[in-house]
Amino acid sequence: MSVTIGVFDSGFGGLTVLRALLPQLPGVDFVYLGDSARLPYGSKSQATIARYAVSAAKFLEQEGAEFLVIACNTASALALDDIRAAARVPVLGVIETGAAAANAASITRDVLVLGTTATVESHAYANACAAHGLRVVEKACPLFVPLVEEGWIHHPVTADVANIYLTEALNRARAAGLSPDTLLLGCTHYPLLRELLESTLDRMFAEPLQIIDSAGVTAAAVARHFSAELRELPPSAPSIADCTFFATDSVAKFQSLGSQFLGQPIDHVTHIDLEE
Ligand code: DGL
Repeated sequence: MSVTIGVFDSGFGGLTVLRALLPQLPGVDFVYLGDSARLPYGSKSQATIARYAVSAAKFLEQEGAEFLVIACNTASALALDDIRAAARVPVLGVIETGAAAANAASITRDVLVLGTTATVESHAYANACAAHGLRVVEKACPLFVPLVEEGWIHHPVTADVANIYLTEALNRARAAGLSPDTLLLGCTHYPLLRELLESTLDRMFAEPLQIIDSAGVTAAAVARHFSAELRELPPSAPSIADCTFFATDSVAKFQSLGSQFLGQPIDHVTHIDLEE
């Protein structure tokens, strides 16, 4: 008996979600698709994001995925219904799991959410958080994705940008009378900026803010879905050998950048072209 899970992202960032999935689902086969040729999704329209994401989901199904994890926050926020309508297998996005994690973490019930422009303008996180009774300030951080892709993780320019974004978000929260105690990273790239964001927040807030990203909670939700199957699988250590990687743009770039997101080397990536 085997289980194959498809993981989709607009590029490399979803590897932070795969990184969380691997230890939770040992023995499971993963097929990862990064639509790196069409990244960024975060600056595109709903119709374009949905068209791209549906073609990616269909590809993963063809590759044998029995379950799809939409690791991309932007695709989860704007295209989950379209993907579910087009797919024959269960589909899980990261918005609801992220909101659930914020709900579990926040005591003040006020949350800051950072995301791409498309994610923030969709208000998907605000709506999902409101369903848990949380108040939210959403802040678009469009410069973070290119800075991370440039490798400027601890760069002074990135620190300045983080300071500007977080100051704006904090001012808006204060103007709305909110006291956020939780920061939700609503983009696959932002976990790589976690340390930098932590030190920026430490300078701004007397009390430390809790930073959460949806990778761990999403992985836990997938593990719950497959709990019966996981009991049947022979015991095995989590291994990247169980992963097959596809990218729509440069294989070399996917290997070098992707390895930083996954936290281990990616030796083999297959290039594919997705039909529009
Ligand atoms: N993967 C996207 C997300 O999580 C970020 C990169 C992009 O804009 O495509 O929102």
